[in-house]
Order: sequence, then C-alpha cells, then structure tokens
Amino acid sequence: MQARIKRLLGGLFIIFSLQRMGTCPNDNLRPNIVSMVKTIVSIRHAKLEDASEIALAHDASWREAYRGVIPGIELERMIARRGPEWWRAAILRGSGLLVLEIDELIVGYSTFGRNRVPTMPYSGEIFELYLMPQYQGLGFGRRLFNVSRRELAAYGYLSTIVWALADNSKALSFYGRLGGQTVRQAEERFGDNMLSRVAFGFISAPAL
Ligand SMILES: CC(C)(COP(=O)(O)OP(=O)(O)OC[C@H]1O[C@@H](n2cnc3c(N)ncnc32)[C@H](O)[C@@H]1OP(=O)(O)O)[C@@H](O)C(=O)NCCC(=O)NCCS
Repeated sequence: MQARIKRLLGGLFIIFSLQRMGTCPNDNLRPNIVSMVKTIVSIRHAKLEDASEIALAHDASWREAYRGVIPGIELERMIARRGPEWWRAAILRGSGLLVLEIDELIVGYSTFGRNRVPTMPYSGEIFELYLMPQYQGLGFGRRLFNVSRRELAAYGYLSTIVWALADNSKALSFYGRLGGQTVRQAEERFGDNMLSRVAFGFISAPAL
C-alpha cells in the first residue's frame, strides 16, 4: 500500500510559481500584491479519451525530433499511421502507456513493456518517450522516465533498455545524463536510408 502511495505521489506534482503583480511604488503605504499561480502536472496511465491528444503530442514531438533525420516521406507515413485510432487500440490492448499532463493538456507520453530483444540482459524496455518541443528541457523528461521505470519495476522488469537514433543527439545526451550506458549499436531501415540506433542500458534500481 505504502509503495502504491509513493508511486502515485511520484507521478503527481504541483508547481507553484510566485508572481509579483504590479508592485506599489510606496511599499510603506500598500503591500505588494502577490499572486500564486498553480500548475498541476501529472504523470498517469492513458485513458481512452486521451487518444486524440496523445496523437497530437506524438505528431508534434516526432516532427521536431526527426525532421532532417528520417526521410520526409517515411516520417509523414510513420506519423499518419499513429492517429487517434492507433492510440485508442493501444490503450484498449492495455499496453504500457503513460501520459504527461500539464494543466489538463497532454504534452508527452511514454510507452514501455518487456524487452523486445530477449537475448540482451535487460528485462524491461522503454519503447518511446516523447515531449512536445515547448515542454522540453524543464525536467519533465527525467520525471517521465523515472515513473516509466518504476512502472516496469512493479511488473518485475527491474533493468531497462532504451533505443535512440544515433543522429538524435538530444536523446543521446538525455539518456547519458540519466546514467544509461551504451550497450549496443544496430542499423535500421527507414525508407531508402539505413540509420544507426544506439541502445542504453539501465541496471540500477529506478529513482524514487
Ligand atoms: C529527450 C527528451 C525526452 C528529454 O526530456 P527533457 O524534459 O527535455 O529533459 P530533462 O529536462 O528532463 O533533462 C534531463 C537531463 O538530460 C539533460 N538533457 C536534456 N536535453 C539535453 C540536450 N539537448 N543536451 C544536453 N543535455 C540534455 C539535461 O541537462 C538533464 O541533465 P541534468 O539534470 O543532469 O542537468 C525530450 O527532449 C524529448 O522529448 N525530445 C524529443 C523526442 C526524443 O528524442 N525522445 C527520445 C527518443 S528515444
């Protein structure tokens, strides 16, 4: 029970920002007016009604991450395939799928499950972890990664592997900063192009 509460709290956090609104020129006469703006950020399992918003987050984040990396036609094809229907089916199947929601808007997602390459010594895999461009670089990726790893651990998958395209320097820096070790390199065909992929392994227990 305690672990459940801990996990729940790990996935829900609130950012308070104090904002000074029009300070009075004479502080002795009137106090400054301070307003408290509350931003609710949550990481939770996807629900059926999230499908359209996840498709939008997928579209925006993939375009930003892979424009100029994956050949244009191939990228468009990959994005078009992942419309709301695709996501609805994934949610119905019960796939590991978390969403990052900020002020009731889905701005990122992760998918995860059993490692697809069973010969490698990692039981779990994070298949995808994507944030819309305007929400990157604010610490949300790290949180989504940690909650995803905790979800995997709850199913007994204590170690995790993640693949990223070698040309995706942002992802390589991110997984490196999170403590991942590069453990394999492989080639994958995208349309007419062969691209390199790098696997990062995580053995230590997921961060709380
Ligand atoms: C990769 C991604 C998930 C990272 O999420 P994020 O919220 O931007 O990253 P965070 O702010 O949580 O950063 C976590 C750590 O990674 C580092 N990092 C993140 N982006 C970085 C970059 N572009 N260059 C160098 N370091 C970076 C941060 O400095 C931070 O390290 P620190 O805490 O030790 O300072 C996000 O940028 C994204 O969605 N990118 C596009 C999609 C993508 O490439 N997904 C991965 C596909 S496998």
